[in-house]
Amino acid sequence: MVQVPIAIVGCGGMGGRHLRALGALQESGMSNVDLVAVCDTREENAIFMADNAEQMLGKRPKVFISMADMKKNLPDIEAVSITTDSGSHHLVAEMAFDLGYHVLTEKPLSLTIRGCNRVLEAARRSGKVLSVAEQERRDPICRLNKALIDAGVIGNPYAFLHGSAGNGNDIIVWPWRHYKNVGGIFVDAGVHEVDKMMYYLGDIVEVFAVSKIWEPKRYKSDNLGVSNFYEHWYDEVPDSIDADAEDMVVSTLKYENGAVGQWTALYAGHGEKMNYSMIYGSKGSMRTARSRSGRPLSVTIDGADEIEGDAVLELVPEFHLDELSARLFGKDRLGSYSGPFEDADRFLVALEYYELGQCVTDDVEPEVTGYVGRKDLAVCSAALESSVLGRPVTIDEIENEETSNYESSINAHWKI
Ligand SMILES: NC(=O)c1ccc[n+]([C@@H]2O[C@H](COP(=O)([O-])OP(=O)(O)OC[C@H]3O[C@@H](n4cnc5c(N)ncnc54)[C@H](O)[C@@H]3O)[C@@H](O)[C@H]2O)c1
Repeated sequence: MVQVPIAIVGCGGMGGRHLRALGALQESGMSNVDLVAVCDTREENAIFMADNAEQMLGKRPKVFISMADMKKNLPDIEAVSITTDSGSHHLVAEMAFDLGYHVLTEKPLSLTIRGCNRVLEAARRSGKVLSVAEQERRDPICRLNKALIDAGVIGNPYAFLHGSAGNGNDIIVWPWRHYKNVGGIFVDAGVHEVDKMMYYLGDIVEVFAVSKIWEPKRYKSDNLGVSNFYEHWYDEVPDSIDADAEDMVVSTLKYENGAVGQWTALYAGHGEKMNYSMIYGSKGSMRTARSRSGRPLSVTIDGADEIEGDAVLELVPEFHLDELSARLFGKDRLGSYSGPFEDADRFLVALEYYELGQCVTDDVEPEVTGYVGRKDLAVCSAALESSVLGRPVTIDEIENEETSNYESSINAHWKI
């Protein structure tokens, strides 16, 4: 198989998860990309990743602190994956396209529509691939979820009810996730939720929301976040920070197909953690998939008992996973799976890399294009804008920048 030479740009926590994903892809026997360089403006982070890569992949990538230097020294690199912090995506992606690279960029595509448009325009100019790393929908149980909805198992969708609460006044991973102009937890995590909401039920067209900052002061906790992915940097996190990004957004969402969503995202939730996600339709309901948990979803159709796990597969006899998913997760039809979160995490990102390789060599269109990434961001931005204006906001208004009160300070910060 052709091995597309690639580099990872941004060697922090998520960069490390991308590296593990490349390890999974190599183990699958279907690797079509070759990590030849890593790049980070913080050289020690790039060196740390190169050390880990040598152990995981058996080959040490070259270390760079600038993409321009990387281009000069290793002109054969064809694609980069961007795992820098969210605020910088538009700058790094634009530079990558101008250097002639294909791009897989972490979500969100940018923090503002203007930033997204800068990336989309740079991609158009260069004619290279732009893929947004939105891995959750690639989970086998999320794929099953989508197949069940498409097969009409619960009928016409009426309502998507989704909510989560937790985190109290903890700093979530890094301080930047609490600063509006460079991150903001609602957008950073919210695009994942929106991506699945629209993957299952189609486009959201309007949002009415109220947002808050309940915890303007946040404190370092014992555990920085997901698994042990950030342990290496634990000592760098300050004991406390002053947050200026929203930590609660409660939204009502209107879908193009008439369905209505209710979405509560509370990142200042003290006490009991909460997480629910249900879709109701004209024939029944569905407890939706939880990406990377391996837990079964369940379906309850009027007049019948709840169906869960492999029994659900009988409702969609034609459903099959793609070849790489089947290899990574062990079967091409799954109602649940076991194994640690860390494995599911690297498997899903491996699928993104495999697709990137296919896009470069076979002219395949990525599943999560720049336009999908922009719409995922637009729904989050519409919620924040709606809270500023005190009225419902359409996604068209946001995507066309007809109203951008919320985003304007972010655009000013980045001078775009
Ligand atoms: N898909 C997911 O599940 C998921 C999970 C976590 C993070 N992410 C995304 O990954 C991205 C990175 O998050 P993280 O938690 O790893 O952040 P991080 O702060 O741990 O790492 C970012 C790295 O990028 C480097 N960097 C910053 N600007 C750079 C530039 N211009 N050029 C080169 N390197 C630069 C930093 O020095 C740092 O090493 C974010 O956009 C985040 O939203 C996605």
